[in-house]
Amino acid sequence: MDTTDLLLAIAHHLLVFSLAGIIGAEFVLVRGDLPAVTLKRLVGIDRHYGIIAALIVIVGVCRVFFGLKGWEFYVYNWVFWAKMVAFIIVGLLSVIPTMRFISWNRQASGDPSFSVPAAELASAKNYVRAEGFIFLLIPVFAAAMARGYGY
Ligand code: HEM
Repeated sequence: MDTTDLLLAIAHHLLVFSLAGIIGAEFVLVRGDLPAVTLKRLVGIDRHYGIIAALIVIVGVCRVFFGLKGWEFYVYNWVFWAKMVAFIIVGLLSVIPTMRFISWNRQASGDPSFSVPAAELASAKNYVRAEGFIFLLIPVFAAAMARGYGY
């Protein structure tokens, strides 16, 4: 029994489910004609994305070093690194939508008649969709690595 490992595992699960929720919320919101109120909401949700992703990194790294199995269990395991790469790709894919949301929100605040260009909307949606698909790989890798696959 190890309380640190348990608390880190609980925090990790709550955070990754929150991130999944945020990606889902963005996927649902980025469609149709985006009114100013939705743009503001998207920027707010997206800010939480950054905070939660940063917390996942902190808690995840703590699990590697302070978890029950010890860091050697993970650093020589290619499935662990595949999970890290997938997480980094999701983060990189989120950069373009973040920049778009901020820019659309700024334009909508300055011009009430602003409407999001259809091509930009479609491209942001594609990025969020791609994030969602790559994100699905992460728990697959996590489950495999936790059970010792990847050596
Ligand atoms: C820097 C980022 C991350 C690090 C360093 C990290 C690290 C870890 C570690 C050390 C474990 C413990 C595995 C074990 O019990 O041996 C774990 C489990 C897990 N991680 Fe992560 N993780 C990260 C991000 C994520 C993300 C973004 C997700 C999103 C789905 C995720 C999902 C999971 C799941 C579902 C488990 C439980 C696996 C199981 O016990 O079956 N992790 N992670």
